[in-house]
Amino acid sequence: MKESLIIDCDPGIDDAVALITSFFAPNIDIKLICSTAGNLGIETTTKNALHLCELYDQSIPVAKGLPGPLNTKLEIAKGVHGKMGFGNYLYKDVKTKPIALQAYKAMHYALQLYNNSTILVLGPLTNVAMLLKTYPEDAKKIKQIVFMGGTKDNVLKQEKPYPEFNISRDPEACEIVLNSGANVTIIPMDFGHYAYIDNEEISRLKSINETGAIFAKMYENYKDGHVDDDDAATHDSCATAYIIEPTLFKTEYVNAKIKFYDGKGILVSNITKRKTKIKLAVDMDYDGFKNLYYGLLSVAKTINE
Ligand code: BDR
Ligand code: CA
Repeated sequence: MKESLIIDCDPGIDDAVALITSFFAPNIDIKLICSTAGNLGIETTTKNALHLCELYDQSIPVAKGLPGPLNTKLEIAKGVHGKMGFGNYLYKDVKTKPIALQAYKAMHYALQLYNNSTILVLGPLTNVAMLLKTYPEDAKKIKQIVFMGGTKDNVLKQEKPYPEFNISRDPEACEIVLNSGANVTIIPMDFGHYAYIDNEEISRLKSINETGAIFAKMYENYKDGHVDDDDAATHDSCATAYIIEPTLFKTEYVNAKIKFYDGKGILVSNITKRKTKIKLAVDMDYDGFKNLYYGLLSVAKTINE
């Protein structure tokens, strides 16, 4: 049976790659896409999500999320994803509109229709936190919440804990999700950093198909500062890989909470032998990930092909 999935995202280059490849995964059924404010403002992330659905002929409802974090001001990822959010890949306009429901309400109704769905979060956790705050009983209807957030190792070799984007932009939202009683799996930023697409791969992408050429255009102006300037981190695709092919990952049970350093929210996870509600991905099969990535890319077709 296919996995019923709700994807909450802030496209964004790595979100776009993750979304497009997951459109073509045979074992998942995306019931709803929600936009969240993060990499860019909510109007842009919503429009970008709609554009991807149009380009790949996906009739998945898109619901617009909240305009910013629960308690703080929105700080977008300025200069990282290009002006429109897709690096050097530009498009004209969208024809479709988001559905009339706010994202958290759309999630609530989707969970009534598709009990035991997984929620995958590729941006700040604002919308899901609002869902769980407003409808706490929904935690029992969710199979699991998988989110890309936090760090595992000190991949950026910093002296202070690194305030990973999705967590530090809305730490209160993360706290609500961690304390909700829902089953949670954390895919930390490190994997996207290790499983990057290097410059030569980016050049080769262009000759695979139209989607490869789109990825290349996006990556050519992706300035997330995590890997070398000409290479591209795959953060959000690591989280979709966990949904599509969980055997690629090793996980451990953790106790997890938010701590504040220099005013920034950091996700701290400690491995425990106790079966908690929260799992942390601690290892990934990098070759397996690349096989999955390129396998899905090879079957991805736009409406023009
Ligand atoms: C996360 O932050 C965003 O910029 C990316 O889209 C990804 O979700 C990585 O820290
Ligand atoms: Ca993202």
